[in-house]
Amino acid sequence: MTKKLRAAVIGVGNIGRQAHLPGYASCPNTEIVAICDTHAGRLAQAAQQYGVDAAHTYADYREMYEKENLDVVSVCTPTYAHYDQTVDALNKGIHVHCEKPMAMNTEETVKMVQAAKAAGKLLAVGYNNRFRLDATTLRKYYENGVFGDIYYAKSGWLRRRGNPHGWFTQKSVSGGGPLIDCGVHALDLTHWLMGQPQPVSVTASTYCKFGNYNVEGIGQYWAESGNEEGIFDTEDLATAFIKFANGATMMYDVSWAYNGENTGIYTQLHGDKAGANLDPVKIYGEVEKNIVDYEPHLNLKVNAQEKKVHNFTAAVLGQEELLCPGHESIVIAQIVDAIYESAASGATVTIPAITLD
Ligand SMILES: NC(=O)c1ccc[n+]([C@@H]2O[C@H](COP(=O)([O-])OP(=O)(O)OC[C@H]3O[C@@H](n4cnc5c(N)ncnc54)[C@H](O)[C@@H]3O)[C@@H](O)[C@H]2O)c1
Repeated sequence: MTKKLRAAVIGVGNIGRQAHLPGYASCPNTEIVAICDTHAGRLAQAAQQYGVDAAHTYADYREMYEKENLDVVSVCTPTYAHYDQTVDALNKGIHVHCEKPMAMNTEETVKMVQAAKAAGKLLAVGYNNRFRLDATTLRKYYENGVFGDIYYAKSGWLRRRGNPHGWFTQKSVSGGGPLIDCGVHALDLTHWLMGQPQPVSVTASTYCKFGNYNVEGIGQYWAESGNEEGIFDTEDLATAFIKFANGATMMYDVSWAYNGENTGIYTQLHGDKAGANLDPVKIYGEVEKNIVDYEPHLNLKVNAQEKKVHNFTAAVLGQEELLCPGHESIVIAQIVDAIYESAASGATVTIPAITLD
């Protein structure tokens, strides 16, 4: 029998417990050997649930890296902590699965990718939406030329009221508001479905019209940690017009709070052969000079959160291609930075192509 990968998770709050620990636990070629969190209660609870002895639980990730001879680690902490925890792991020869957004900004993102390259280790980013069946179906259609040239897309994720409480609303910890939180999911997914064209410019605005609103009767996302003071110094809505080097354009919007419909992640692709809607999947085509719409039946159940972890370990073992490599989040970080810059200055911001040697 081949040796199992020795895995650890840093940050056992929401996503650590909902995706990464169950992902490793259900993976036949992996064992969870250590867990790290600065919160003693969550650490003890997760250790008990996943059968990790207290001797292998840590408040300090560096001590865990020193002692545990890890093969893989998931970084599931608030965004400001991703850079150090990822780069230190890579420098120790540990493959990393880092949650989205991969870093606070483009500069950190590039350095993390460079560290992975220098170490010869894998760096994955937690874009679980790429694993959804509707998404992989549309990507297959794109690759097989069903849409032709995709020259226009609409994308976003609008919540009527849906602030994630805790550290997410504190810019020094999160890097920003809905744009860098749920917004990167929509942005990455749509960009991936468009065939990942090079972004060249962004014109954008951000708003904060609600902040810490107070309405009743709605479910919200509660981060497990941070921000007891209730600081809210990020945007609550961002909107942008993005141009790409191949001439394509994207209209994009994302909110934690606005007065309108909840959309979930939405993606509309418009090609010169056909168009598509992501959820539910619908293709807008033409057959024999008639316009025809069709809706593929997608009945398989896919657990995208679990799949992203399984794909990572399989890629480490050389069994699968990594679907969400860290270097593909550089252009997403560039678009996010450009949206904030354009919103602040009121001007269109150009995006340079970054080539890593
Ligand atoms: N892919 C997705 O669908 C998805 C969903 C939710 C969150 N996320 C991402 O996952 C990450 C974590 O978000 P969350 O909602 O789980 O947050 P959370 O607050 O629920 O959990 C974070 C955990 O990290 C611990 N922590 C904080 N600083 C630490 C440090 N320096 N060392 C060790 N532990 C530390 C906290 O005690 C907490 O238990 C963020 O990057 C977030 O954007 C991704």
